[in-house]
Amino acid sequence: MSVRVMTLFGTRPEAVKMAPLVKELQSRPALEAICCVTAQHRQMLDAVLNIFQIKPDFDLDIMEPRQTLSSITTKCLLGMERVFEETKPDLVLVHGDTSTTFAGALAAFYHQIKVGHVEAGLRTWDKYSPWPEEMNRRMVGDIADLHFAPTVSNWANLAREDIRQGVFVTGNTVIDALKTTVRPDFRFATGLLNELDYQKKKVILVTCHRRENYGAPMAQIMTALRRLTEDFADTELVYPVHLSPVVREAAERYLSGHPRIHLIGPLDVEEMHNLMARAYLIMTDSGGIQEEAPALGRPVLVLRRETERPEAVEAGTVKLAGVEEGEIYRLGAQLLEDPAAYAAMAHAANPYGDGQACRRIADAIEWHFGLRAAPPKPFGPPEE
Ligand code: UD1
Ligand code: UDP
Repeated sequence: MSVRVMTLFGTRPEAVKMAPLVKELQSRPALEAICCVTAQHRQMLDAVLNIFQIKPDFDLDIMEPRQTLSSITTKCLLGMERVFEETKPDLVLVHGDTSTTFAGALAAFYHQIKVGHVEAGLRTWDKYSPWPEEMNRRMVGDIADLHFAPTVSNWANLAREDIRQGVFVTGNTVIDALKTTVRPDFRFATGLLNELDYQKKKVILVTCHRRENYGAPMAQIMTALRRLTEDFADTELVYPVHLSPVVREAAERYLSGHPRIHLIGPLDVEEMHNLMARAYLIMTDSGGIQEEAPALGRPVLVLRRETERPEAVEAGTVKLAGVEEGEIYRLGAQLLEDPAAYAAMAHAANPYGDGQACRRIADAIEWHFGLRAAPPKPFGPPEE
């Protein structure tokens, strides 16, 4: 009898990071891979499923416009009742820190099904930043039986919470995904991205969507971005705007109507990764982009007060810019006008993975269920 492993995810970043794992699990004869999506994101999830050619076995289709955290959580919990009645997996894999992640882990626990947490052990130790993600991942850490920590420092965070059993250091699956998408000869389907002159112009790629940045912080961030573009005539700012109406309204209000500011819709993940590889500078409050950009050698200013991803800050390719207009402008301007400051940040670093995370996770699962003699060797920092 094969071991039934369900992957359960719902948003764009979970999909990007779970897609290579879905493929890896499908390739293992000893495992039966089942894929369930909540569709907490509808269009942004489908775009990723499309690129990686994944057809889910179950789709809860829960998304609503301006959905609340309570509505996502309750709809996931109730929706998973039917799924678990129909198919009782031996293990449910959830990813990261979204509402789908938390509700999915809780639903599995209510059915006494084992939970594996992919991207375990990220912490800021501040329950409101990022909100609600920091508590989601802590609560999933308590529920999970297997913990796939990307880095040694994520492993140490779990140890600090006395989570020591079933922990594997695997690298982040996002690096596995990145290895399949970036190509030097890539042609963009979004015309503007082929037209930009990446040699003569400094392309600033922006994303900004976090709930804790809604309102005043987003206003400050966007005002700084507009001032930077206005003051530096050799820049082009490209912002693929998240589909959240709150974010779209803010972007429209603070950034529209400037010829060198390009507000476009969300990009599919191949376009995004290839644009990141060509951009001069990335300014973002995204988690995943903080992990991808160092592997591509692109400097990142993080539009947040803190980060649960300190590895690239330590490697010198990422800086925390905060959410205040003055400091964001100062750090952005420095990278645009000081070649030495730019060169100091624009080098490739791979603290988050080596492209082997999915293999390690699948090996660890097989070992846990007695299908393999030894656990995988942990992912270590590149110099080890
Ligand atoms: C969610 C995650 C966040 C993650 C982000 C990635 C939670 C609490 N938050 O936040 O951790 O960083 O996804 O992008 O789980 N929408 C669409 N179509 C889509 C996607 C979203 O229309 O394909 C709109 C809907 O109006 C939806 C709103 O965006 O109600 C917000 O989506 P939601 O998943 O609630 O929050 P995010 O900010 O995307
Ligand atoms: N991404 C994408 N298209 C976009 C913006 C982001 O494909 O227009 C990808 C990005 O490269 C990364 C993931 O989506 O792989 C990150 O998702 P997001 O920033 O929405 O969420 P977070 O990582 O902050 O949770």
